Amino acid sequence: MTDPVVDCHDASVTLGEFQALRDVTMALDPGSFLAVMGPNGAGKSTFMKALMGLVPLSGGSITVLGNRPGEHVRREIGYIPQIKTLDRNFPALPMELVLTGLRGTWPWRITASERETAHEAMKIAGVDHRIGVPIGKLSGGELQRVYLARAFVREPKIVLLDEPATGMDRRGEADMYSVLDKYRSKHGATVIMITHDWEAAHHHATQVLLLDRGMIGYGAPGDVLVEDNMRRAFGHVGHHHSMTIPISGDCGA
Ligand SMILES: Nc1ncnc2c1ncn2[C@@H]1O[C@H](COP(=O)(O)OP(=O)(O)OP(=O)(O)O)[C@@H](O)[C@H]1O
Ligand SMILES: [Mg+2]
Repeated sequence: MTDPVVDCHDASVTLGEFQALRDVTMALDPGSFLAVMGPNGAGKSTFMKALMGLVPLSGGSITVLGNRPGEHVRREIGYIPQIKTLDRNFPALPMELVLTGLRGTWPWRITASERETAHEAMKIAGVDHRIGVPIGKLSGGELQRVYLARAFVREPKIVLLDEPATGMDRRGEADMYSVLDKYRSKHGATVIMITHDWEAAHHHATQVLLLDRGMIGYGAPGDVLVEDNMRRAFGHVGHHHSMTIPISGDCGA
């Protein structure tokens, strides 16, 4: 038996007065693809932040790679946040943005080996052909891939993606899933993705965590994404295979 990569017991988070997450209990095997789903305000982004130790728990426990979330664990995690506060007019190159994922700070000077590392990550994310183009001139989908490259650049064991398909067309989305699948199998990595796309979750996820502050379901997509749970989460049942909910994040435009 392998140790779980993420292990939560009754994990709860209170933000101010507001209980954003209540009693989440789940364990995830390494190499899994977890889709985190639920309505707006369900605590999905909060759950991701809790995994990284960016918000404290008000109750319960979480371990990630056998450790309490925090700085040490964050080094093993590649993260794409939901809302990117990047001024697209800022005169930056994709490579610089990618390397912030390696250094944690802006890389004013870039060594030859960093250049090589960034190029490799951009290749994996399928955006290396745009390497010399200022970020302000990239399309939303291309910029999203640059963020993907940024998440890959340390070769993390866990990749967290908060609604990464924002700004991507169907083709771009399909490419992203194949990039993630390749990364996952090459590195034995675990992918955790927040998405509103039921069809994609059915297709690509090995596990689904359905949240509405509390846990509605956790398990294989076919067991969790059932009518009864959908009704509990969303108050109605949408068209199962085409239901995508408009999302609020943007690509920094
Ligand atoms: N710092 C904060 N103080 C108080 N409440 C907060 C804070 N940050 C977030 N919240 C609230 O916590 C709830 C959960 O937020 P979270 O961002 O985790 O939801 P989400 O499931 O990611 O939603 P979405 O689908 O809209 O991205 C929301 O109701 C939000 O308004
Ligand atoms: Mg969110």
